[in-house]
Amino acid sequence: LHLSVSTTGGNKSSLLLYGVMLEDIDHSIDGGLYAETIQNRAFQDRTMEGWYAVNGACMGLTTELPLSDALPNSLRVEMKGPGEGFANEGWWGLSVRPVAYNISFWARTSSDVKNFTVKTALISAADQSHEWVSTEVALAGGPDWTYYTATLTPAIAAPDTNNLFVITSTSSQSATVQFNLISLFPPTYNNRTNGVRPDLMQNLLDLNLKHCRIPGGNNLEGQTVARRWKWNETIGPLTTRPGRPGDWGYYNTDGMGLFEWLTFCEDLVGADGGTILGVYAGYSLGGESVPEEALQPFIDDILRELEYVLGAPDSAYGSLRVRDGRTSPWNVQYIEIGNEDWFSNTYAYRWPAFYQALKATYPDKTFIATTTKGIQLPAGVQFDQHFYGDSRNFLGLFSAWDTWPRDNGTDVIVSEYSVQRFDNQTFSPWPFMQASVAEAVMGLGIERNSDVVKTQMYAPFLSNLHYDREGKPRLISFDADPAQTVLSSSYWVLKLLASTHPADARVLEVEGSVPVHPLYWTASLDVGTAAVYVKVANAGEGEQVVSTNLQCGTASVVEGEKLARNTPEEKGTVGIEELEVGTGEDGGSRVTMPGWSVAVLTCAGV
Ligand code: AHR
Repeated sequence: LHLSVSTTGGNKSSLLLYGVMLEDIDHSIDGGLYAETIQNRAFQDRTMEGWYAVNGACMGLTTELPLSDALPNSLRVEMKGPGEGFANEGWWGLSVRPVAYNISFWARTSSDVKNFTVKTALISAADQSHEWVSTEVALAGGPDWTYYTATLTPAIAAPDTNNLFVITSTSSQSATVQFNLISLFPPTYNNRTNGVRPDLMQNLLDLNLKHCRIPGGNNLEGQTVARRWKWNETIGPLTTRPGRPGDWGYYNTDGMGLFEWLTFCEDLVGADGGTILGVYAGYSLGGESVPEEALQPFIDDILRELEYVLGAPDSAYGSLRVRDGRTSPWNVQYIEIGNEDWFSNTYAYRWPAFYQALKATYPDKTFIATTTKGIQLPAGVQFDQHFYGDSRNFLGLFSAWDTWPRDNGTDVIVSEYSVQRFDNQTFSPWPFMQASVAEAVMGLGIERNSDVVKTQMYAPFLSNLHYDREGKPRLISFDADPAQTVLSSSYWVLKLLASTHPADARVLEVEGSVPVHPLYWTASLDVGTAAVYVKVANAGEGEQVVSTNLQCGTASVVEGEKLARNTPEEKGTVGIEELEVGTGEDGGSRVTMPGWSVAVLTCAGV
């Protein structure tokens, strides 16, 4: 293949190409990105999942004298002597490192309990006499709920995550104590209160992403209207957040609420407006739609949500944002109305109702529709397309947007995609090279049409290794131990493509000497540096020689056999490597691309 790249002209590419879509799925948030290490810290789902009695303490849940309306259940523990108490196993383990862990909990006893002390500790689960670190906390006697804090700083790291967080009595007297909202936070990214895990955040930051879509996905919708993600129940003090049954098989704490989601996106993609806020639009996953005549309260609710996010500090809901710790509005420029509404037949009345009301209040924002079923996209609106499937479908997406109308003012985003299946249609538990190359082919199709296709986002992005994800692939898999994180082949392909998409880019015209397949390509110019990135995917077994008319200094590649993949056992099978750059017949550069590979050549513009 010879690629003749024209370094002049070309379309302006999207500023926001490559992004992340995140929702709480597979414990991506609770037990994942959200740094809280205690599982089931506030008994929101009325179970004692994750908690155990220590040394025969008697314990159970009670709704007596609740901590708050939102958190009605607490743990009542009868501690009859020293050493009795309770333990939490974390989220499939608990990482102990020599860093400062912030402990906090609420407790109440009775008036006759005096000078009662407990020990908070991190211990080995295998040898429970082995303490990594501990500190004593004196409980105030009395029936009022009291908030306690302490810090635990282990001197050394534990060799594994088989550890427990324990609270045990150090008093000889007997006492019955109620506990709730028991929390253990290691340091967070940017030291944010109630923030995210720095290691996973770094994995995301390394991708150089520009767009961030939150908080779902199906998890926005709920299985029923009553179970939808309710923004107002995710803000404010943790004692006021009831949590909800999420859409992915477990209860969500909503510790990562609207405030934390928006802070996370800003930390990840910057404050230039790359956040896409998905808002509930009257349809839930179980098939229930809010009837047209009952829609207005739901629209009003989203207007309140948007005032919290975008309103002046002295507005009714903007002032709640100030109360929660942020004066200036977030720079959210994109509002997505619903999620995958092609599943319903009711977007035809829900979309116009939401769009008109939100647009009237926020005329400068970009609104995103999730289907065209039953609606006409107004100019200026973006259309969100999702793609899941096997590799073959994705190859066809290379040219899917070549004919997208350029004259009606509607753009596209692909805010969910992943190749999920092998050729035989069974799900793959891990991304594999054939899949990652096919995703890249779609990605190159998007880059070359990025005057109208504004971004692409892999989904699902994050997954806890211990949660049953029904054998489906995820971009990043992790557990409590940062050393166990698996960055998939699709992660490396995404990193290669995203980190070579400059903020100010032009998509260049390229003439190939042969038709596409198995090779696919695109090229773009970094307007700031005049570097040209030539991107080629080889979606076939055989080696391919690719030459260009340009002089290229480096060629980075992700390659592997068709089914090569990174797994917990083999984390480093696929990564980014360098190809040798030679000289072609016309004096331009030449590389030999291995089968199943994606390469980016960095060339000098002329
Ligand atoms: O990525 C998982 C789910 O797939 C998303 O929540 C949903 O929008 C899509 O169907």
